[in-house]
Parts: sequence; structure tokens; C-alpha cells
Amino acid sequence: MCGIFGYLGPQNNASEMAIDGLKNLEYRGYDSWGVACKNENGDLLLEKHIGKISEADDLRPEILDSINHLAIGHSRWATHGGVTDQNAHPHLSHSGNIALVHNGIVENYVELREELKKDGFEFKSETDTETIVHLIEKYVSEVGFEEGVKKAVKRLEGRYAFLAIHKEEEKMIAARTGSPLIVGVGPLDNEYFLGSDVPAFYKHTKRVMYLDDEQMVIIDNSGIRFFNTKTDEAIEKRVVELTLDIESAEKGKYAHFMLKEIMEQKDTLSRAINQEPELIEGMAQAIEDARGTFLIGCGTAGKVALTGSYLFSRIAKKHVNFTFGSEFASYQDFLTDKTLLLSISQSGETADTLEAIEVAQKKGVKIASIVNVESSTMARISDLVIPIKAGPEKAVASTKATTSQMAILTLLAYACAGKLNEGQQLLAATAGKINDMLNPRYEDHIKALADKIVDVESMYIIGKGLNYPMALEAAIKLQEVSYIHAEGFAGGELKHGPIALITEGVPCIAIVANDETRSDILSNAMEIKARGGYIIGVSPENSEIFDYWIKVPDAGNASPIVNIIPIQILAYHLAIGRENNPDMPRNLAKSVTVK
Ligand code: AGP
Repeated sequence: MCGIFGYLGPQNNASEMAIDGLKNLEYRGYDSWGVACKNENGDLLLEKHIGKISEADDLRPEILDSINHLAIGHSRWATHGGVTDQNAHPHLSHSGNIALVHNGIVENYVELREELKKDGFEFKSETDTETIVHLIEKYVSEVGFEEGVKKAVKRLEGRYAFLAIHKEEEKMIAARTGSPLIVGVGPLDNEYFLGSDVPAFYKHTKRVMYLDDEQMVIIDNSGIRFFNTKTDEAIEKRVVELTLDIESAEKGKYAHFMLKEIMEQKDTLSRAINQEPELIEGMAQAIEDARGTFLIGCGTAGKVALTGSYLFSRIAKKHVNFTFGSEFASYQDFLTDKTLLLSISQSGETADTLEAIEVAQKKGVKIASIVNVESSTMARISDLVIPIKAGPEKAVASTKATTSQMAILTLLAYACAGKLNEGQQLLAATAGKINDMLNPRYEDHIKALADKIVDVESMYIIGKGLNYPMALEAAIKLQEVSYIHAEGFAGGELKHGPIALITEGVPCIAIVANDETRSDILSNAMEIKARGGYIIGVSPENSEIFDYWIKVPDAGNASPIVNIIPIQILAYHLAIGRENNPDMPRNLAKSVTVK
């Protein structure tokens, strides 16, 4: 959430690079944006606007006309304060000498703001961020910029990353605790970038240095220095060379990333399962050795984690606990140094999941993770990592990462049962079936359904067993991009209350797998139909109960993977039909780095 960019180096168009870099971070927040730079006369220039930076081309920001070697930028996802120019970042200190961008939440900002107001600082925004920049200024007047930032950081509570510059210094100072911040190095001498994520600067460099929690970095013409924010001790860091597939982060022939990423599932499943068997077997062994395993994730990754608990039960006859990352702390009394925490995340930066890991680590729990972004915090702090290798996922709605995560969990469950080979064969066959399924005719069939139901107010989705979590995931997908009120239920639960919601013509998706749950879920669909519901069956076989049938291949224990794909396509076409931007839905951001 929120994208941060920084540049200090020999190039004289730092502000232009900031705007360009922010466009690549827009998935992190897109309600407003801003850039501050220091021009050749030593003035701090500031430009901020509400709206998306990708739509800022016509503005011809004045800031681009100056010669500047030092710039910071920000794309915002509002937490404290509405979407206004005033609340957009960068924020300036009282004197206007310091500019600062921030991601995260300063939890003690109310108390700090009161203190600063008493000291005469005037607040122009409703943000928690403004307290940081004023606090820094308060200390800068006593001990200078570097020491002032060090002093201010010690007063902050919460999870945050910020980047500050000072009008009178050729310097960037950044600190993080809980929110991501990565340094890009070079390629020119004495050239450094800062970004919330690598796409901020990947056009320029793929050499990075990671800033970890409770660390700060000071970059100036003499080079780069890292410190511990608690002890002020200097820290040595090494440069890591990244290998990134930049092409796959472009839309190519597709109108939206979401559709492109859905279609990429022709290949991504194969990439996910094509792992070193030792990697899968190593994590499966850790699950076997553990006395208690918790599967966690948030949002879609949470639904994947819940699917995992069904997969382990069904395939490996193993009880694995599931909880959402944000709820995990309530179970901490059951954690010991024999527990395993298996966390699922696309970004590897989700604050709720990272905090669950912190809680677990304090109890000596071993951390295993299944992530897409291999350079993420989660990947770096885990004891065991399986990368899903789905390539950059830019649309806010997760699609290809979801199915790849489920593929890895399926492999792990088979490996725990001592049948890794069988799992690999099942998933290889499933990958082939998905490849056949994702053709233009199939998409048109789903689009025709979307056209039919585009104006509905509510939709319901039912599933059972392995496919119950997919009913929940289908609801998230529909909610986030179509804005239709959608709810997922276990089919059997309907009659215990939710069936009261069914009215004439309301579309209900029944996910009907070809397994022992088929007859039950069909009965549940019948109960809905009897009350006027319009039944959309997602199933390998047709049924007279279905008003509209979306055929999916029969994939056995991989059925959740194939069943969610047509619903992703439906959600996409509903979004288009309702004139929503499926890549950047309202109120959301790709990577949720606040609690
Ligand atoms: C997915 O469509 C959602 N945008 C969201 O629920 C997401 O899955 C969740 O925020 C977790 O993200 P992560 O996988 O990056 O941890």
C-alpha cells in the first residue's frame, strides 16, 4: 500500500524518473500522487494531485521543467485523511525545508501531533505522515538532518517506511519497520534509487540492497550507509543481483492486466509445479515433523490457505489448522518451537501476514512460505520458501498467483502422503486441460453470461468440501472488480439462514465438482432454484438444475484450480460491462502493507 520512490544521482531528470517509477508502483495505491525535487537553485519544488498518476500525462507537471538530481515521489492509498491534494504526499515540514513520503501507519500520531502543536508546528493535512516530517524538523534544528531523523524514528510506533530529503542537503534518508523499502544501486557511479518495490526502478537497475525492519539508510555523494534505528549501530549490507522478467509486467495485447494474468494460467501452473522435488519434499518433511501446522494468508491467499487445509485432510489425512493472517495472534498460546507456520502470499508484503509471522517467530515457530515475489520481506524472513514463479501479478485481483499457490499446496499434500509423483502427474494433466479450456470461444461463452447478469445487485456462490473455499474466493473476485454484492457459502449452510436472501432471478453460482460432494451441492442448488434463483453451474457435467452451464475439465483433487478460472473470467467481464477498471478497483491496492 502506497508506493515510494526516491532518486539521488548524476542524472538531471530525477523528477521525471520519479513520475515514471511511480507509474510502476501504481498498483500499490492510486488515489493521489506527488513528487518533490530539489532544483538547480536549491529550492524544493512540490507537485501533488488527486487521481491516478497514469492519467497525469496531460498535466505536464511544472516540476519536470527543472534540472534536478534528487527527487522523491509517492502514490497514495489513503489511511488517515480523505483523498485530497492536502493529504497527498510528499508532506513538507513547517519551514518547508524537509519533504517526506511515507507508507504505513504511525500509531502514536495523535499524541505526537498534540506535542508538536504545543511546540508551534502547524498541520496542513489530516495525515499521520505530517507528524513525522514535523518531528524530524523539530530535532533537525537541534542536531542536524541525519541525527534529527535518527532521533525522530525512535519516537515512532507502528509499521511504516518513509523517505525524507532536506532542501540544504544532497541526501536521502529512509527508514523502515514493517513496510517494504528496497535500495536500487547504480548503474552510474554514486547513483541510488529507493522504492517500495523493485518495479519502481527496474528499468534502471536490478542491483538491490534490502532494508530490513528497524533499519535506516543514509545516501549522499559519499555513498550509502545503513544503521540500526534502535542502537544507531552501523550495518554492513551486500548488493544482490535480481533476475526479473520485465516483459511479463507489460499488458501486451490485452486491454487489462487482469485478463492477461487470467490467460497466463495456460503456463503458470506448469511453472509452479516444475520445482526441484527436494524443495517440495523439504517443506513436506517440515510439515510431517511439526507438532501442529498453521496455514495462514489474507484475502484470496487466505482462501487458498483454507483450500490447503482441505487438501491436507483429503490427500495426506493430515490435520492442518487454518486461520486468516489477521486472526492468527488469537492462537498464539498454542504455539511452541515444534509448530510450523505455513504462510501464503502473492506479494510477501501483506502486513497482517507478516505480523502473524512475527508473533510466531517470537515463540520459536519455524516459518515456511509460498510466495510469488521472491525478493519480498516474507521470502527473506522465512526458514523455508517455495516460490510459485507466476511472474509479476499487477492486477489488484489475484488470479494466476491463486491457482499457482493452490498447485503448490496440492503438491505438498501429495508429498506428505508419500505420493509426490502422483501429484505432479495430476497437476501436469490439469495444466494441459487449462490450456485447452482458455480459448476465445470459452471466454465468449462466459462473456455472454456476464452480459445477461451485468445489472444484478447481488450474487451468491455455493461450494462444498475442496470447493467451499472457492465459493468464498469467487465472492471476493466478484466483489472487488464488479462491485456486485457477492457472498460465498458452504452449500449445506444455506438452509440455516442465508437462503432467506434468495429472491426471484438472483444469480447463484453452484461449484459442482465431480466427487462425493456432487449430489449434496446439486440438492443445495435445487433448494435455491425452488426459491427463484438463477443457477449457474460450474461443473464438468451438465445438470437439468443449471440455467447456465460453464463446463470445466474434470480435474479430481485439482478441481479448485480449474473451477475458479471461469469465475475469474466472469468477474472480469462483469467489471468491463459495468465500466469499472478491473486492474485498479476502487478503494483497493495490490499489496496491503497496513493493518
Ligand atoms: C486478491 O484478489 C486480493 N486483492 C487480496 O485479497 C489479496 O489476496 C490479499 O490482500 C493478500 O495479498 P498477498 O497474497 O499479497 O498476501
